[in-house]
Amino acid sequence: MAIYKNSNTKAYFDKEAFDFDVGYKSGLELKDFVRRLAYRWNQPLIIKRLRSLVHLAGDCTNRLFLEVGIGAGQYSIEIVKAGAEKVVGIDFSKGMMRCAKANINQLNLQDSIELVEGDFLEIGPQYEANFDVSFACGVLDYIEPNKQELFMRQIAACTKNGGHVIISFPKKRTIHAIIRKIWLNIFKKIPVFFYSQDDIIVLAKSAGLLPVEEIDCGALTVKKFQKQV
Ligand SMILES: C[S@@+](CC[C@H](N)C(=O)[O-])C[C@H]1O[C@@H](n2cnc3c(N)ncnc32)[C@H](O)[C@@H]1O
Repeated sequence: MAIYKNSNTKAYFDKEAFDFDVGYKSGLELKDFVRRLAYRWNQPLIIKRLRSLVHLAGDCTNRLFLEVGIGAGQYSIEIVKAGAEKVVGIDFSKGMMRCAKANINQLNLQDSIELVEGDFLEIGPQYEANFDVSFACGVLDYIEPNKQELFMRQIAACTKNGGHVIISFPKKRTIHAIIRKIWLNIFKKIPVFFYSQDDIIVLAKSAGLLPVEEIDCGALTVKKFQKQV
C-alpha cells in the first residue's frame, strides 16, 4: 500500500503559495519560462472553477460559508463580494495563509473573512453544523484515498441540515490528470488524486450528501450537494 506524507503537501503549498496566488492575477510576476507556461495552461481552468463555485453558491446574502483549503483567499473574497455575511477559511499552509491575509487586508475584508490555520481533518469537528454552505475547491486533489471519506463526512458535518456542500473533483483519465501526475507525483513527490463519477457517488453517499447540481469544467467538475436532514 502506498504511504503518503501529509507534511510534503503542506511544505509544497508553503513553497508554491506565491505562484498559486499569481494564478488568479496577471502571471507576469512569475520567475521563469516553465512557470509562465504552466500558468498559461492552468489559469483558464481555475478561473472556470471559481466562476462555477460562485454560480453554484447562488444567493449568498446573509449566509455563513466555510471554505476548506482557502489558499490565497480568492474564492472566499468572491463569495463575500457576492453578499455572504461571513466566511471562515481553513488552511494548513502558513505560506498560503500569509497570501490570503494580504489579499483580504488589501480589500479591507478582515471582518468578513476569518482565517483559521490548521488541518481540516483534525480541526473540522469544532465547526459542527455551523454553516449554510461549505466548499472546497482544488483540495480533494491532495487528500489521500483512506482519508477521502473522512473529509467528505467532516465537511458535511460542518454544514447545517438542508444546507449545501460544493466541491471540485479533478477527473480521472484526462490529459490534465496525466500531466499533473507526472509533474506532482514524479517531480515534486506530492501525491495527487483523481475521481470518476462512480467515486464521487460513493463518497457523497458515505457522507449523507445528495448531488443536486454540477458544472463540468473539462478536466474537473464542480458538484453541489445537499446535506440530508
Ligand atoms: C490547490 S490549493 C487551492 C486553494 C484555493 N481553494 C483555490 O482554489 O485557489 C489547495 C489548498 O488546500 C490546502 N489543504 C490541503 N489539504 C488540507 C487540509 N487537510 N487541511 C487544510 N488545508 C488543506 C493547501 O494548503 C492549499 O492551500
